[in-house]
Formats: sequence, C-alpha cells, structure tokens
Amino acid sequence: MTLTSADIDGMVGAALSAISSATDLDQLKEVRIEHVGDRSPIAKANQSLGQMDPSARAEFGKIVGKAKGAIVATFEARQVELEAERDARVLIEERVDVSITANRTPKGGLHPLTILTNEICDLFLGLGYRIAEGPELEAEWLNFDSLNIPADHPARTMQDTFFIEPLESHLVLRTHTSPVQMRTMLEEKPPIYVICPGRTYRADELDATHTPVFSQVEGLVIDRNITMADLKGTLDYFARSIFGPDVKTRLRPSFFPFTEPSAEVDFFFNGRWVEWGGCGMVNPKVLRAAGIDPEEFSGFAFGMGLERTLMVRHGITDMHDIVEGDIRFTQNFGSGLR
Ligand code: FA5
Ligand code: MG
Repeated sequence: MTLTSADIDGMVGAALSAISSATDLDQLKEVRIEHVGDRSPIAKANQSLGQMDPSARAEFGKIVGKAKGAIVATFEARQVELEAERDARVLIEERVDVSITANRTPKGGLHPLTILTNEICDLFLGLGYRIAEGPELEAEWLNFDSLNIPADHPARTMQDTFFIEPLESHLVLRTHTSPVQMRTMLEEKPPIYVICPGRTYRADELDATHTPVFSQVEGLVIDRNITMADLKGTLDYFARSIFGPDVKTRLRPSFFPFTEPSAEVDFFFNGRWVEWGGCGMVNPKVLRAAGIDPEEFSGFAFGMGLERTLMVRHGITDMHDIVEGDIRFTQNFGSGLR
C-alpha cells in the first residue's frame, strides 16, 4: 500500500485532536502510544520510507518528517501544560494547614484520689508537717499490738483483716494507716508533726460506701502541751480547707485502743452529718511502747477515709466509681484526657 500526503495529513489531524482532547497525563500517555510512539501510524509511515522508490523518497520523507515533528512538538507542549496543571492541583490538594489543631495523643491524668491526697499533703506541709509513709504489707505487731489492740480484739479476726500466709509470718495487709504513727515514733524523737497518706485493706464487701481496698490519711502530732483543743483546731482547719469555709465539724465520744480519749470526727456538709474518721489523744501506753515519756510529751492523732471525703465533696453516690478506674468518671475532675 502506498501512502499519500493526504494520508499523512490524516495522521497529523488524528494525532493533534487526540492530543488536545487528553485532559490529564494518564490520557496523554495513551495518546503517546497510539499516535507518537514506535507503533503509531506516523512511525510506521517513517519506517516504510525504506521501501520507497528513491526518487519519491526524498520528497515524501520531507512530508513525513515535518508531520512527525509537528506531532511531537504538539505532544510535548501539551505534556508541559498538563504537568503544570497537575502541579498546581497537587499544591492545593496536599496543602498542609498549619493552623488546624493537631489531633494530640491523649495525655494521662491523675486519679481524683491522688489529687485529693496531694491537696491534703500540701495543706499539712504548709503547717510544717512532714509526710511519712509505711508499707502496705505490715507487721501484725505494728498494725495491732503496738497500738494497744489486744489479740482478742474483734478487728483482728479473719472476717476483718487480710492475714498473709504462712500465718507464722505475722504479716497483714494494714487495716489502717495508724501503724505509720508507731513507725514514726520509733524512728524519731518529738516534736513530731507528720501526715501519712496510704492504701489500707479490710475484708469488707464492695458496696456503695465500702471497698476492701481504700485510702486513709493519718495525722500525728507529738509535742509538749498538746491538748484536745489543738486537735479540734487542726481538724477544723483541715475540714475548711477541703470542704470550704462554711463546713462544721463535731467530735463524738468513741473508742480506739490507741487513743484516750477517743472520738469520731464528723463534718456537716450539704445538710447532713457525715462520719469522716477517728481521732483522739495518743494513749500514754502507746507513747511508752514507742519510748516516749508521757509525762513530758502528749499528742493527738486522726485517721480519715479518703474515698468518703471525695464522695461527699463531689456528690459521688457510689464508691464503685472511685474504685473502678473508668476514665469517663475521672475525666469529670479535669484530670483526664486533654
Ligand atoms: C481507724 O481506721 C483508725 N485508725 C482511725 C484513727 C486514727 C483513730 C488515729 C484515732 C487516731 P476507722 O476504722 O473508723 O478508724 O476508719 C476510719 C475511716 O476510714 C472511716 O471513718 C471511713 O471513712 C474509712 N473507712 C473504713 N473502712 C472503710 C471501707 N471499707 N471503705 C472505705 N472507707 C472506709
Ligand atoms: Mg469508724
């Protein structure tokens, strides 16, 4: 088959219209294969020049060469155009908006009980107290005997206390923070002003107002001329700092083997009296057991439940919420995810 210059014009026309109707670089790539590449009609026309009669070849070669040049030039121009369009589009589509708030990794927060503990520690540090701590796995002697709690005291039964096996180890999970009193008195000479926060354990069922693992904060003061008025004044200051200036406190006569006299301290908040903890003047027997002369020194002690403090202050009706560690609860205290 012999090609005419009209055939070449047709090839150029088809190629140019395909090039101009390609609207993106992918389409243009297809056009290149069909109309510009090695298997395109114009390339084949170029290859067929070899079989042509030499007299015709020179002139037809010029026509084919010109056509090919036109196609390639148009193709390249379109390519430059479409690349520019793509670059502009990518700049918009992949733009980074540095003003958008970042999706931050959730930040951990303190549990409300920890916040309360820190608050109480700060308060007493401000009064010149020191923070004292003791182990949760405690010697039975420190938890009970040294505090004048006799072997037949009801609190020492299996129903109330977690004893550690083997029983000959005489270790218990401390049932209160009061053993820290004794540890402190054995280690230090008066004057003593300490606050002792910590976890405590009792074989109580978990219900709306009890948990087997709870927290207490113990206060102990041993100095010259300490009286019950100092205790009452300290508790009032403590209560006002935690519950606000209008809170009232009262002492109700009670009994603890390690204090004499002893009292329950209640506070009046939101229209009702709530038991807060126990307190009293340190029993001279306990002072003597710690090597402190009760003729020279006297002191007071108190021990409050922290879950109950938190419940009353924040109107929490169920202790489960404090214990279970669900962050939907803790977030309300402004301590959760930020
Ligand atoms: C004591 O534990 C004494 N050690 C307090 C004390 C210290 C008296 C110093 C005198 C001098 P009591 O068993 O009442 O006392 O417990 C004190 C507080 O701990 C209670 O008022 C209550 O707020 C809290 N508490 C006791 N048991 C639980 C429990 N199972 N769950 C949550 N809170 C509890
Ligand atoms: Mg009590």
